[in-house]
Amino acid sequence: MKAYVKVSAPTTVANFGPGFDTFGLALREPRDIIEITTDVYETEIETVPDYSIPTKKNAAFAAANSIAWKNRVNAPFHMKITKGTRPGSGIGSSAASSVGAALAMAVAMDFEAKNEDLIQASSLGEKMASGTPHIDNVTAALLGGFTIVSSRNPIEVISVPPEKLPKFDIVVTLPDVVIETRKSRGILPKNVPLTSAVENISYCSTIVHAMMSNDIERVGRFLTDEIVLPYRKQLMPWFDRVKKAAIDAGALGFSVSGAGPAVFAICRGNQKDVAGATEDAFKSAGMKSQSFITAPGKGAEVLAVK
Ligand code: HSE
Repeated sequence: MKAYVKVSAPTTVANFGPGFDTFGLALREPRDIIEITTDVYETEIETVPDYSIPTKKNAAFAAANSIAWKNRVNAPFHMKITKGTRPGSGIGSSAASSVGAALAMAVAMDFEAKNEDLIQASSLGEKMASGTPHIDNVTAALLGGFTIVSSRNPIEVISVPPEKLPKFDIVVTLPDVVIETRKSRGILPKNVPLTSAVENISYCSTIVHAMMSNDIERVGRFLTDEIVLPYRKQLMPWFDRVKKAAIDAGALGFSVSGAGPAVFAICRGNQKDVAGATEDAFKSAGMKSQSFITAPGKGAEVLAVK
């Protein structure tokens, strides 16, 4: 057993337009930092800043515990999570913490975890945070780059590392509202019209081909979604107005990040204009927002082991 492990894990854009619960993109930043110390007498979780999440409802705790139980270890640990973004933002806050915690615990316990084990454990964190064990955010947070969930049972995933993707910038804008993933999933119907499913299959296939053939303009044009966004717009009535502003300012594509409320635009060169136009559009819809410019990034990594 190791005395101390420090891991970093990225925030993520899930769905990436049409790929509900399937596509993910790791962001270069912000990232969560997770530190586990094992030479302690009592299990404790510390989150910085303190979001007052009870330990038993903490996604990272669920993920770390799952790894420990799988390894039949029941030793106390101290876990410090320095958050890169707030919970309920839409850029995979709980997934970053869950993946970082699962990986840190596996390293601390000398457990040679497979990616599937870490994704499975982290999905329990997602279930804790949102009610369902979806794995699009956690797959991107673990593996980095652009990720595709090929199968959920058994877990099979594909990842395309950032260096193999077209070069593009990502403007993420976070409005000053919280939309709980549980609520954003709760309003979705059990079944969708066949015509909508057909549209999304076309968009997803096109995005994958365009990603692999360096055609970022086409990726941008097909960041659209007929399956979940029409329902989620009830919670984000400002969406069309903000999208129009970003596209008019030169964004190549625009969509909701995960379950929202964060939105993202992909850009080549106009990122500052797009960030400004998106914030202005939120302002005219009566909301404060904050943008940052980032890019596709690498997955979770171990920063220190003692
Ligand atoms: N795919 C998930 C959703 C991501 O859209 O509900 C949320 O974390």
